[in-house]
Amino acid sequence: MKPSAPMPETTPVLSPLPAAERTHGCGELRAADAGRTAILAGWVQRRRDLGALIFLELRDRTGAVQIVLSREREPQLHARAESLRSEYVVWLEGEVVRRAPDTVNPQLATGEIEIHATRLEILNDSRTPPFSPAETAPVDEETRLQYRFLDLRRPAMQANLQLRHAVTFAIRHYFNRQGFLEIETPFLTRSTPEGARDYLVPSRVHPGEFYALPQSPQLYKQLLMMGGCERYFQIARCFRDEDLRADRQPEFTQIDLEMSFPHQDRLFHLIEGMLAAAFAAAGKSLHTPLPRMSWEQAMREYGSDKPDLRLPPMADLAGRIAPATRAQLKLHAQRPLWAIRIPAVGELSRRERDELRPLAEGKRIRLFEDFARLRKLDPALADAAVEATDAAEGDLLLLAGAAEDTAAAIWELAAEAGGLRLAAAQKFAERHKRQRSGDFRALWVTEFPMFEWDEREGRWMAAHHPFTAPRESDLATLEADPAGARAQAYDVVLNGVELGSGSIRIHRAEVQRRIFALLGMNEEEAQRRFGFFLEALRYGAPPHGGIALGLDRLVMMLAGESSIREVIAFPKTASAVDLLMNAPAAVPEAQLKELGLALRPGQKASS
Ligand code: AMO
Repeated sequence: MKPSAPMPETTPVLSPLPAAERTHGCGELRAADAGRTAILAGWVQRRRDLGALIFLELRDRTGAVQIVLSREREPQLHARAESLRSEYVVWLEGEVVRRAPDTVNPQLATGEIEIHATRLEILNDSRTPPFSPAETAPVDEETRLQYRFLDLRRPAMQANLQLRHAVTFAIRHYFNRQGFLEIETPFLTRSTPEGARDYLVPSRVHPGEFYALPQSPQLYKQLLMMGGCERYFQIARCFRDEDLRADRQPEFTQIDLEMSFPHQDRLFHLIEGMLAAAFAAAGKSLHTPLPRMSWEQAMREYGSDKPDLRLPPMADLAGRIAPATRAQLKLHAQRPLWAIRIPAVGELSRRERDELRPLAEGKRIRLFEDFARLRKLDPALADAAVEATDAAEGDLLLLAGAAEDTAAAIWELAAEAGGLRLAAAQKFAERHKRQRSGDFRALWVTEFPMFEWDEREGRWMAAHHPFTAPRESDLATLEADPAGARAQAYDVVLNGVELGSGSIRIHRAEVQRRIFALLGMNEEEAQRRFGFFLEALRYGAPPHGGIALGLDRLVMMLAGESSIREVIAFPKTASAVDLLMNAPAAVPEAQLKELGLALRPGQKASS
């Protein structure tokens, strides 16, 4: 969108920045400051011209304040102010004056006072912005990202960036006190397997060779432990070429941590302390220690490895359903029958009830939302559902069971039931929001499977990453029973969002080699890709473990936002484009040549 800029009637005379520095932030002045002289600088976000009086709303990072220019008192200034428009940059001096009670503006923190200007300098003019930073009405995201410098002036974005700073600062302070060293690791490196595609950087000096941007500092932080650093952390930028969502960006920031001689309890305790510090920095509180739940329990009771504890767990009624009901409802004989309760939804209309059914469409589970019918069919089952879920008046109760002809594995079905649970809760979010707002429920999920079978590739994949240690008790049977192996891996989950993921690592070369082999990497490939790492493990690598938390996700949740783009100064769109800088972009042929690269016909190079 191009701003259509009606030219100001009077061309403003622009001044250099006066020598006198600002005495206050615009948003800082209060009734107690009445009588003081204030020097302010900022952006004009509103201008009202009442003839003899011009009112400005002046904004800086701290907030906004009303400025009054009187033709009678300061005719020259008043004339100058006539040329002011939205987003002009001004410097001014004036007297802080208490407003008459009937003109107090309760919307503004500074609403009890105004500034009677005695000096005014215009430092810069502005084209008419495509949207006003003062508006609270929604602006479409493309325009916001294209004009991000204007968008960042909005108080909501300023608050988010300040919150991000406060949280990051508190985290650094916390780790410093716990004896952790912040150590930077390279951006130009080799591929680190975190499951996404790499961003590659061609080397000019070594034509035909590429660096990969790190998907995480995983290998470096392990090497730091082998380097005797013992306690490392980093606010680390990571790069992943993957499908983007509201909580995923191609470059994002991790709170990355690793420690030597780790005990899982100690590590959990440290992270809980860090989260408590981050919450406190945001003026919020988190109840610690966090509960712990095995992956199996999470899947069985929540149908998810990132359970949202703000909603009650599901209950399995498979043992309570009469065979005749099972046959009539066409349910699988060996699979759970999940009872799902969404609290405090209230009475549903017929139409609302009908809207629930499509939630199960295309799934391998069947959904029963008509409890009155169910009660007629099998009163004992209906009673069991109420009892097992603790359902009360106004709660929504659903049953989800596997279709009789499905061959899907139990965890796949559990995930579908869990998905239904969230979709139903989301559908009625407004109704039970009151119960949930400001409510933070976090937990640790532990004992993840070590491997996942990849149908497409026909091989086992590391469920976390290939450097994660299996449980000591599973070591002997790894090759015989990969599906049964559990990892010393853990996730920290907040309100159903995976906040962080980590593990105790393999610190013996022999075990690492076995895992590579199990993942289908032959000796030669393991050597080629990770030879340096296997070698490092052979020189007295200490036991070590760690975790990484998504800083963007943490701040998003503390800010009450639903997309990490709201807490990143310069994010990319869902198609990985930086609309402000216009990246990615074609590069001149000569630059490609220097790198030893040529594009295939039909691909872009700039002239
Ligand atoms: P993992 O890949 O699970 O683990 O990442 C850890 C955390 O980083 C955040 N995250 C993201 N945030 C925004 N955009 C993305 N594209 C994105 N991808 C991940 C999530 C996630 O929980 N090296 C391991 C950690 C370890 O084992 O210590 C790792 O990176 O919040």
